[in-house]
Amino acid sequence: MMIELCDSADIAEGEIIRVDVPGCPAIAIARHEGALYVFPDRCPHADESLSEGWLEDGRVVCGVHFAEFELGSGTVHNPPVGCPNLSFFKCEDRDGKVFATLTGGPEHV
Ligand code: FES
Repeated sequence: MMIELCDSADIAEGEIIRVDVPGCPAIAIARHEGALYVFPDRCPHADESLSEGWLEDGRVVCGVHFAEFELGSGTVHNPPVGCPNLSFFKCEDRDGKVFATLTGGPEHV
């Protein structure tokens, strides 16, 4: 089931925002070249917030140890030891609202 997260206008190009959904861990939403990406607001390396990082060349950069995750595939670059890839939730922009499937957890989409 898809859950409404926010207005799509809330996410500017090149930005990452955090969204709190009752009953769920924090969610991050990024916009790159117009497309939206929804993923856990938790770095898979050491659980730090990814919404406090930034986007660069189509990657989410974690501001703590600077792992870089490709938007879409989640493939990690410059990983600290033991850092896995990032996973994403399925999402869509419906009439100006961002919806995502949070049940079942993130996956590579
Ligand atoms: S917590 Fe993100 S790279 Fe270490």
